[in-house]
Amino acid sequence: DQVHAEVPEDLQIGDHGYKFRMVDGRVMPPYITPRCYGLSRRIETRPADVCFVSYPKSGTTWLSYIIVLLTGKAAASLESSFYWVESSWTHPMTESDIASDRSPRLFKSHMPYDMALGGTPAQNPCKYIYIARNPKDVCSSYFYFESGKSWSGFYNGGWDHWLQMFTDGKVHRGDWFEHVLSWWEHRNADNILFLTYEELKMDPRAGLTKIARFLDVELTPGKLDEVARKVSFSEMKTTEFSAMKGVKEFGKFFRKGEIGSWKEYFTVAQNERFDALYASRMGSSGLDFIFM
Ligand code: A3P
Repeated sequence: DQVHAEVPEDLQIGDHGYKFRMVDGRVMPPYITPRCYGLSRRIETRPADVCFVSYPKSGTTWLSYIIVLLTGKAAASLESSFYWVESSWTHPMTESDIASDRSPRLFKSHMPYDMALGGTPAQNPCKYIYIARNPKDVCSSYFYFESGKSWSGFYNGGWDHWLQMFTDGKVHRGDWFEHVLSWWEHRNADNILFLTYEELKMDPRAGLTKIARFLDVELTPGKLDEVARKVSFSEMKTTEFSAMKGVKEFGKFFRKGEIGSWKEYFTVAQNERFDALYASRMGSSGLDFIFM
């Protein structure tokens, strides 16, 4: 398989078999190869292109399906409806394949702002939609997702170890606080829309309307109804297209789809420590999450 095909000399193995590669000073998954990352940085974006960005487990798949439906870009499968250039994981692609494709081209990325697709977003015509989620749910969802996966080296650490790695910024994609704040700082740029998982969950219709407006897509009441129904957790999970059934090891993409499931993982003491860390790292950023 592609993840193992490029047997990388620069891979590192941490505690409990956790495999990673350092890229531009950040902890990245093994499937982020220097070639793919370099390609993603060189992409020449166009005004009609859309790049959706997130820290893992923040609702990326959900957002991707919303964008695919709103732009009418559905291909044979959800994962082939967009490019994930930074990853060696999906279909192999060349610079000329991407360059010759029609707009709007949809791109997925899990990078912090300074490692964005296409270079510096402020200088690119492309639209970027960033989705953030409360970090307790991200950390819990990520633990469930990464445990035992081949790409993470069959990581077999327990929850306490995972939480420590997460707060130390040692899980794939690096430090959550830095990642989210890097995009939050640029939230008022004309070509950036900053969303949260929680706002989408609490009021999906308002979220869909906001996304459609940002994308300049007309949303009739009938279309809004249809998209809202299709992107609900229960529909997405059971529909072959949106559940990404064909993608190896992606079966874990739909777990609970709720706000607050972190309560099943965090002890009282861990929660108190996390709250203190959150207060010190988020400070006066003005970014607030619903934890439930
Ligand atoms: P949980 O593990 O908390 O259930 P990503 O796509 O970025 O990997 O994020 C995955 C998370 O989004 C999982 O969270 C998954 O269940 C949730 N999710 C996926 N589709 C969703 C939907 N339609 N509505 C709400 N949550 C969804």
